[in-house]
Amino acid sequence: MNSLRLTDEEFNLISKLVYDKFGINLGEQKRALIIGRLQKVLHLEGFTSFKDYYNYVVRDPSGRALLTMVDKISTNHTFFFRENDHFEYFSSVVLPQLTTRQQRKPKIDIRVWCAGCSSGEEPYTLAMVISEYFRNNAVDADIGILATDISITALEKGAAGVYPEEKMAQVPFIYRQRYFDRSKDGSYTAKKELKEMVLFRRLNLIQQEYPFKGHFQVIFCRNVMIYFDKETQRSLIGRFHRYTEPGGYLFIGHSETLDRSLGTYNYIHPSVYQRA
Ligand SMILES: C[S@@+](CC[C@H](N)C(=O)[O-])C[C@H]1O[C@@H](n2cnc3c(N)ncnc32)[C@H](O)[C@@H]1O
Repeated sequence: MNSLRLTDEEFNLISKLVYDKFGINLGEQKRALIIGRLQKVLHLEGFTSFKDYYNYVVRDPSGRALLTMVDKISTNHTFFFRENDHFEYFSSVVLPQLTTRQQRKPKIDIRVWCAGCSSGEEPYTLAMVISEYFRNNAVDADIGILATDISITALEKGAAGVYPEEKMAQVPFIYRQRYFDRSKDGSYTAKKELKEMVLFRRLNLIQQEYPFKGHFQVIFCRNVMIYFDKETQRSLIGRFHRYTEPGGYLFIGHSETLDRSLGTYNYIHPSVYQRA
């Protein structure tokens, strides 16, 4: 496969499109990434220049070409129990608080949104952690985790819930037994009970309105805002605030920061915030 040239004009057109549509900031250092990840698509579709491919993407009335493009460009790196300190804090502080707040209800209701869920490792980790908590406390709970992303490929992987053995390294043995079925080829498939706790949906975080009726007690949006600029991050935090119930929580990635001057959330633990 011959390497295609990406001119300055083509780079500017593609990076502006990705920024306008998805908020993803492709700085000059991402030039090689664009070439590397899109080259194969161009070859497959028979385009000989990035300009022709760009015109095809923006003119595609179905919007599918744009989705394929962002699928290739977005970074979906994730793993089970990533930044495990968060899950320990969630289990030891957040879940007991949510349970206490609902003491008078006949059944505890847990509503979590995993925004930028990639291929499902994060929402399934949450589902396991929440299940374990209620199992250990012998409490009956209704658990609902909404897992959203822009990448269709990642969402399909999440919904299928099949992970090769090497992806399961961080999942404790007892959890693997309880929540996954092992296949002959060594891969693991999430059991029906685990899958039923997680609903995968496509959602672009930079759209101004979200189709939610209620509030979430907890939002996880980790290692997603690193791809956005400050302005996009600020408006996203404003929308998260709208959909977090009073006293609810926001978890962001350990390498990310939240602009505290916005007054939307209070800092309570490293990269964990509570709605003001
Ligand atoms: C590096 S992964 C993080 C996955 C997981 N949250 C974690 O921490 O392991 C970033 C995810 O954000 C998604 N993403 C990027 N821009 C997005 C947008 N505008 N709307 C929704 N998801 C987006 C990507 O598709 C990708 O799956």
